[in-house]
Amino acid sequence: MKIIRSIKEMKEISTNIKAKGDTIGFVPTMGYLHEGHAALIDVCRKETDIVIVSIFVNPLQFGPNEDFDRYPRDEERDRRIAERHRADYLFLPTVEEMYPEKASLSINVVDRTDVLCGRTRQGHFDGVVTVLAKLFHLTNSDVAYFGLKDAQQVAVVKALVDDLNFSVKIRPIPTVREADGLAKSSRNVYLSPEERMEASHLYKSLQIGQQLLIDGVKNTGIIINEVRKYLKNHTNGSIDYVEILSFPELKEISTINQPVILAVAVNFAKARLIDNILINGH
Ligand code: PAJ
Repeated sequence: MKIIRSIKEMKEISTNIKAKGDTIGFVPTMGYLHEGHAALIDVCRKETDIVIVSIFVNPLQFGPNEDFDRYPRDEERDRRIAERHRADYLFLPTVEEMYPEKASLSINVVDRTDVLCGRTRQGHFDGVVTVLAKLFHLTNSDVAYFGLKDAQQVAVVKALVDDLNFSVKIRPIPTVREADGLAKSSRNVYLSPEERMEASHLYKSLQIGQQLLIDGVKNTGIIINEVRKYLKNHTNGSIDYVEILSFPELKEISTINQPVILAVAVNFAKARLIDNILINGH
């Protein structure tokens, strides 16, 4: 696995790979890699000739009171994991390399962001799509792999690619979980031992909602209330949202008869956890 730190070298290498006719798969991450990231790399390895993984904690997507400074970082460990999962290139640019001076523009997402995490994380998805636009250009990728753990991110990145005519294909990958159902996340290290136990109830609350739908409940208000009630009774965290929306359009609906996302976010003392399930709805 080759480590690349400069934009110039990344661009040259990806241009040469393309010239040879190989397909490029790309897994963008912010590092502190875990089995969720590894699952993306593994599928990418199977589906494309060349695998590029990036690690860049992108300041543009963090709000002023968010965890940019204390976001967990461990380059040595990440290198070993990326290598073990047979990445060909690991792109590790610095903030100065990616944003050498104050940017003259950023991409503004105007749909799919007034719900779920977008409601409280002002500007977050603008930062996500701005860095991804740069990374898609630099890696020349044919296919980019994204986890459905961040389903709103998948919906917004699909909009980026469609609206701005990028040629990269977005490939969503199911959420990888701990044995008790907690979605793997770099931010799980912020949880106290008690919070870690409670955190498994996020997924359980989603399963309760899903079961109600399977049992024939189509009214979103009823399902949302039951999920909320379960979360209140089983965690001390404060509920940020419980929402059911059409997917990937992310529009509010009152009756479920199409593919939907059921998503929850809960704030614990030092970690904000999110989880969701996609439900067919027919
Ligand atoms: P990060 O949080 O590091 O996640 C990188 C990718 O791994 C994302 O596509 C995310 O959805 C996926 N992922 C995280 N946990 C997962 C899990 N438990 N199962 C499956 N996939 C999982 O998301 C970002 O970084 C950034 O916003 C980024 C896209 C890199 C842009 O800066």
